[in-house]
Amino acid sequence: MCGIIGYIGPRNAVPILIEGLKRLEYRGYDSAGIAVVDGQRVQCQKTKGKIAALEEMVKENPMASNVGIAHTRWATHGVPSSINAHPHLDCASKIAVIHNGIIENYAELRETLINRGHTFRTDTDTEVLAHLIEHYFEGDLTRAVRKALKGVVGAYGLAVICSDDPSKVVVARNGSPLVIGIGDGEYIVASDVSAIVDHTRQVIYLKDREISVIERDTFQTMTIDKEPVTPEIEEILWDIDTIEKGGFPHFMLKEIYEQPETVRNTLRGRLDQEEGTVRFGGLLPFKEDLRRVRNIVITACGTSWHAALIGEYMIEEYARIPVEVEYASEFRYRNPIVENGTLVVAISQSGETADTLAAMREAQRHGAKALGIINVVGSTIARECDGGIYIHAGPEIGVASTKAFTSQVTALALFTILLGRMRGMSRDQGTEIIRALTAIPDQVQCILDQGEHIQKIAQCFFRQNNFLYLGRGYNFPVALEGALKLKEISYIHAEGYPAAEMKHGPIALIDENMPVVFVATLDSVREKVMSNIAEVKARKGSVIVIANEGDEKMEKYVDNAIYIPRTLELLTPILSVIPLQLLAYHMAVLRECDVDQPRNLAKSVTVE
Ligand code: G6P
Repeated sequence: MCGIIGYIGPRNAVPILIEGLKRLEYRGYDSAGIAVVDGQRVQCQKTKGKIAALEEMVKENPMASNVGIAHTRWATHGVPSSINAHPHLDCASKIAVIHNGIIENYAELRETLINRGHTFRTDTDTEVLAHLIEHYFEGDLTRAVRKALKGVVGAYGLAVICSDDPSKVVVARNGSPLVIGIGDGEYIVASDVSAIVDHTRQVIYLKDREISVIERDTFQTMTIDKEPVTPEIEEILWDIDTIEKGGFPHFMLKEIYEQPETVRNTLRGRLDQEEGTVRFGGLLPFKEDLRRVRNIVITACGTSWHAALIGEYMIEEYARIPVEVEYASEFRYRNPIVENGTLVVAISQSGETADTLAAMREAQRHGAKALGIINVVGSTIARECDGGIYIHAGPEIGVASTKAFTSQVTALALFTILLGRMRGMSRDQGTEIIRALTAIPDQVQCILDQGEHIQKIAQCFFRQNNFLYLGRGYNFPVALEGALKLKEISYIHAEGYPAAEMKHGPIALIDENMPVVFVATLDSVREKVMSNIAEVKARKGSVIVIANEGDEKMEKYVDNAIYIPRTLELLTPILSVIPLQLLAYHMAVLRECDVDQPRNLAKSVTVE
């Protein structure tokens, strides 16, 4: 995720900013940049790649100032490049902006500003902020930022400097974190406290829709509507390792808990509730191809392959297009039949998985159009596919994929709406799914709030050596994903099966030493899953069930139940997978496994 750092005080800002960027490195980034107020000008240097490269650049072209901002970027709009790196400048290069988050209405704002004579240099959403602030600037930076933000829809944590109002840094927040560190006669602002703790432990966490104007020896906070705010000063008690993990003991747990926000980011700016449809910037050149699609092949590996299976159920049910899901490693070597009208969809968190990339290239070689559903912007698959959907989940550091999965499924639901609306899905049906999607982030939070209950269940089971995961319909891929999570990080042998297949083999394994996790939500196959539960209980198997709120009578039949909110059947996997992620996590911790870096596994498998 992008990182922000800013400084104002008696010292030279440049080395402080560079060191601050290094503290933010752990968040993942693809480019970095720095800007300072230098007399009448803003001086800015930025580069693709590592902070060390930026540091070299700054050594060759030294700069010094008491006021400056710097940024590590993790691309969302526009490929990773020096030009797209932050800070972004206005036309006159007097205003510099760094920003985390996504400006949803950037396309409209950009068009308006271009019509007013502004010249854009980058593909980013952030650049509109620099020009918008320039548009409103009449000598007072704070006023200009406030006016600009009133017209902005989206999420931001940002910091702005200006050479025509040189003795201040203006920061603001809406949705993306922004912290002000109060030092001894100086201020350090940052997107997270890891960049601040070397200087001070006294901080203020800005709240949504608040702006702060920071000068050498004072600062003032107000809302965007100019109401004064008295901020609360807090003391940071964490050590640096805890800070980097956001207070969580592992990146995996942090990423699990980020999911309300990451799902929200996948949805951001893409919903058209009124028309019951969705918008994807990356699919605009692809629209006609999508209308002509006759069948779809989705190809992926690992967790992304499980998301693909859910996509198959969704697209076939709602868009009535035949879908096949293929392991990328199989597809690439089996001389597949790729007919005219076949669309290949490659799903990959990293965008670099060798098999998925090769499968996509193979399909393109056969004449198919390829679409990527990718997390890492500018990755190889993202560059080589013919059209793409970024899931905007932010960097995933834990090897076992969690937040990327829920964002992939969310993106597939959006893609289903798009395809469906081209093929007879009614506006009302589109609106109904969109409405349910917008409720998902809060529903995910409700499940996360049951963390302790899930941990207790893990305590009862973590010494087991085998697990079975069963589900049907949309929850069958969730059973596969639950089993994969457990084996990846706890090294417990686990298998996922469609529940009804149990009687064709796995039932032979069931006894008091074989716990079975059922995903049995209130859906079209729920009664059938209940019979499977009875079959397991009759053989003394212990059952953990993921059930829906309002289905509490489940408790009579099973040993342990975790309740999740209800949603439409096609969206259930986004919720039902969360307890399974937490269950796997807690069992792995209890078994003292290295959760973030499980043995023998790699985050991105770039070899065959
Ligand atoms: C590795 C990772 C998995 C991931 C799979 C596919 O096996 O450990 O977590 O699901 O690769 O990765 P991708 O980046 O293509 O989604």
